[in-house]
Amino acid sequence: MTETAKQIKKLKEEKDVLILAHYYVDAEVQKVADCVGDSYYLSEKAVEAKEKAILFCGVSFMGESAKILNPEKLVLMPDVEADCPMAHMAAGEKIEKIRAEYEDLAVVCYINSTAELKRHSDVCVTSSNAMKIVSSLPNKNILFIPDENLGRYIASKLPEKNFIFNDGYCYVHKEITKEDVLAAKKRWPEAEVLAHPECTMAVLEEADYIGSTSGIIARAGESRAEEFIVCTETGVFYELQKNNPDKVFHPAKEQQICEGMKKITLEKVLRTLESMDQTVEMDEAARAKAQKPLTRMLELAK
Ligand code: 13P
Ligand code: SF4
Repeated sequence: MTETAKQIKKLKEEKDVLILAHYYVDAEVQKVADCVGDSYYLSEKAVEAKEKAILFCGVSFMGESAKILNPEKLVLMPDVEADCPMAHMAAGEKIEKIRAEYEDLAVVCYINSTAELKRHSDVCVTSSNAMKIVSSLPNKNILFIPDENLGRYIASKLPEKNFIFNDGYCYVHKEITKEDVLAAKKRWPEAEVLAHPECTMAVLEEADYIGSTSGIIARAGESRAEEFIVCTETGVFYELQKNNPDKVFHPAKEQQICEGMKKITLEKVLRTLESMDQTVEMDEAARAKAQKPLTRMLELAK
């Protein structure tokens, strides 16, 4: 363990801080975390937290969601500028305009969204629970925001619903093309293709398995394949390799890097624990409105 990692472990005990980390942050950050997981798992951990504070190693919508769900808790972010561009790719005005056009519209909001977008929504979802939640809604008409790719993937499985899409996307997943996957398949013909549903439909059509980061990790463990082509951010390779030392994992293309997630460094984690001052702050009325769709997600996902 590095000196910085040792100091982090000591300080988090002394100050009673729970460190949560997403699979996309660097391996050295994942190693000092108490819990590492996908967005759904981490939102559950944020609600259950008994510690005095939560230090969220991820992008801003993650820290914000932890604060929305657990307002009494001090929520810290190692870098307040670590952001997810997709979280901003919808507009409240447009949502309300579409809402007025349909009688039974449900606005389904991917958790990768700002608190402002959540406030305009009926229920939140993550990639691991979207199918279950959307299929359980009584509404026929679904406005899915902000991610078009996840929306289209869920819609392809639920033909009984009428989906309205929004043109948001994750640049990390969108930049993985069908041609990249076909070239990787040619290079490693025995490999199983694992893809995150933020990828385009053209890529998903080439996949053997489609799921959230934790779904991809579980599948790699269960599969009899020995080699995999992975279509998601390369942060997951740490857990994949740790759990499956004898299996081989290839990224579908060279650069599958989320800049926001990579802003979280061990040094910043230590600095935040020392200062305890990079807190997530929200107006209470706005927070309460954004809490409703998140709480509904946790209920429906059970
Ligand atoms: P999951 O970890 O829920 O699969 O989400 C992926 C993601 O893009 C997080 O930003
Ligand atoms: Fe956002 Fe994509 Fe980064 Fe996930 S990987 S945080 S969706 S930019």
